[in-house]
Amino acid sequence: MALRIGDTAPNFTIATTVGEINFHDWEKGKWTFFFSHPADFTPVCTTEMGRTAQLAPEFEARNCASLGLSTDTVDEHLKWIEDVNTTQNTTLKFPIVADADKRIAELYGMIHPSESSTAAVRSVFIIDPEMKIRLTMTYPMAVGRNFDEILRVLDALQIGDENGIATPVDWQPGSKVIIPPTVSNADAEKKFPQGFEQILPYLRYVDVSK
Ligand code: BEZ
Repeated sequence: MALRIGDTAPNFTIATTVGEINFHDWEKGKWTFFFSHPADFTPVCTTEMGRTAQLAPEFEARNCASLGLSTDTVDEHLKWIEDVNTTQNTTLKFPIVADADKRIAELYGMIHPSESSTAAVRSVFIIDPEMKIRLTMTYPMAVGRNFDEILRVLDALQIGDENGIATPVDWQPGSKVIIPPTVSNADAEKKFPQGFEQILPYLRYVDVSK
């Protein structure tokens, strides 16, 4: 069965570009952006890997580690990283899983046979420090992902956890958030002394940056 939001991210031990990792040990206490790409030495993947490396300070600011995966070997990954660094003007430091036998790709449902029976599609799992899957996203092989959205959703998950709120359509950090319908007005007044705006009984905005 496909992995779902709220599931514990399955554990695995595997070779990566920075040595063998046990996923649960490695990811303990931090958020993880775990993402697959179809293959090394391909153009779209090269740009995505470069962007992930360039955004290292942004991920770090969010206590989030990046972990890539494709069904290639460590040697192939290491050779390809040289191309990524040169062409994308970066230094890639995060680990990339070498999943040549597709063991982890199958475990995480990253192989979509109508796209390819041997290579992973562009899957994203955002996993929280308790190892729960908090977001899944799947892109086809020929479409590069939007990394602004990946950072935005990390921000939304973290601000939601910190404040017990939800985020509206197209929310951006710093803008108003939504008080969930499960919170009564009486409780909202206690929880948000800065006040809130009620548009409808079930549509209430609050500014948690105040
Ligand atoms: C790419 O990374 O460019 C790519 C990989 C597989 C299929 C299509 C594009």
